[in-house]
Amino acid sequence: MATPPPRIKTAIRANARLTNLKTAFEAKYGESPVFFACAPGRVNLIGEHIDYCGYSVLPMAIEQSIVAAVSVNSSGTIRLANTNPQFKDYKVSCSEDIAIDRDNPKWHYYFLCGVKGIQETFEMDRLVGMSCLVEGTIPPSSGLSSSSALVCCSGLVTMEANKKSLSKVALAEICAKCERYIGTEGGGMDQSISFLAEEGTAKLIEFQPLRATDVKLPDGAVFVISNCCVEMNKAASSHFNIRVVECRVATKMLAKARGLESSMFLKLAQVQTELKASLEEMLALVDEVLHPEPYSREEICKVLGITSEQFSTDLLSANTQNLMHFKLYQRAKHVYSEAARVQRFKSVCDSGAGDSIQLLGELMNQSHASCRDLYECSCPELDQLVDICLKSGAVGSRLTGAGWGGCAVSMVSSEKVESFLKAVRDAYYLCDPRRAAMEKQSLFVSKPGGGAALFIEE
Ligand code: GLA
Repeated sequence: MATPPPRIKTAIRANARLTNLKTAFEAKYGESPVFFACAPGRVNLIGEHIDYCGYSVLPMAIEQSIVAAVSVNSSGTIRLANTNPQFKDYKVSCSEDIAIDRDNPKWHYYFLCGVKGIQETFEMDRLVGMSCLVEGTIPPSSGLSSSSALVCCSGLVTMEANKKSLSKVALAEICAKCERYIGTEGGGMDQSISFLAEEGTAKLIEFQPLRATDVKLPDGAVFVISNCCVEMNKAASSHFNIRVVECRVATKMLAKARGLESSMFLKLAQVQTELKASLEEMLALVDEVLHPEPYSREEICKVLGITSEQFSTDLLSANTQNLMHFKLYQRAKHVYSEAARVQRFKSVCDSGAGDSIQLLGELMNQSHASCRDLYECSCPELDQLVDICLKSGAVGSRLTGAGWGGCAVSMVSSEKVESFLKAVRDAYYLCDPRRAAMEKQSLFVSKPGGGAALFIEE
């Protein structure tokens, strides 16, 4: 696991995407790039909103990625540009402190998160100057992790430009941490799979310590991604951090109820480990200790024996300070049941049993229902799309990524793929001109792709 990301010596002219990017780079900066860095997006097959609670997740990398062409120089400036004209140029001096404006999550701030993460890791006073041209094929705000792929790509770029070396695991951990500069308290799944993915296999990602294990998906089925065309930028809204906070508070309430020192516990998985309980026992504990009615701040403070000020500073994040009500029961139920579904999904894949596809489909359906009803991270369009996918022949279908918009992932038996795609196209996309215009990049079959890599002219 101490392996660094691959440095692939390649003939750039043999790769159309890199060649086009090289040409655009030369037109923009009047010089040639010295290397390219690529980081993929991901689709999470199961295990939603549980990574930041300490539980394992089961994603695979997708073919769509962020690629940067880079030249290194002594200009004392980091220059950033994007091939998409919607994303404006940006430059920052290498002697300046890198500032990330959370209230204004522009594209270049994600890049700067990665730069800052590497700078801090090596305690570098001054970074080398570089010019970067970034190109992305991951649809933004769609739950396929375009933002984390950008952070991972920039971490890799900054490492290489400054002649440093890090393992994939270290890079994943650094990028998971530094993406929080943008304000969302993500859990590390996206950055881990972006670095640790290997072509042809999904991965079980476990945390503390971070590790990735191959998961062989059953033959005879494919995964289809479909975008509901509702955009959700998790850094621009507080939905995501509200859930993180609710899970944190639920952790403390459960710990307290079992006589543990609640201030020591931050993640739901830690309570399970401490109690040496099974996930079923944790679900029973949630039923016993928490009530389904939303909790007020006062009630939580009273149970935990803390002041309202302590509650605000210790438990809430910057963008959740005004939160008054907390659904602890529902969130904890989702997390423990979803963690159990990930374990089952992995063991069904390992078993290679004849009815695997059916069983995995059922787990995906249960996961969607739990995300929709208990975690409330779906939206009407996404629910409608999931329904359409099931009616169109999917064995299982669920939202993927943070939710509140973005994509669904469906498991479809191989012989039904064509009829499935046609039925979803007709029922969800073609009936709406806006969706119809987005259909090409919104509905596609996805195979497990490889992880982040550097490309250098051979
Ligand atoms: C986002 C976060 C991940 C994870 C998912 C939900 O993608 O970055 O860490 O929490 O949402 O499963």
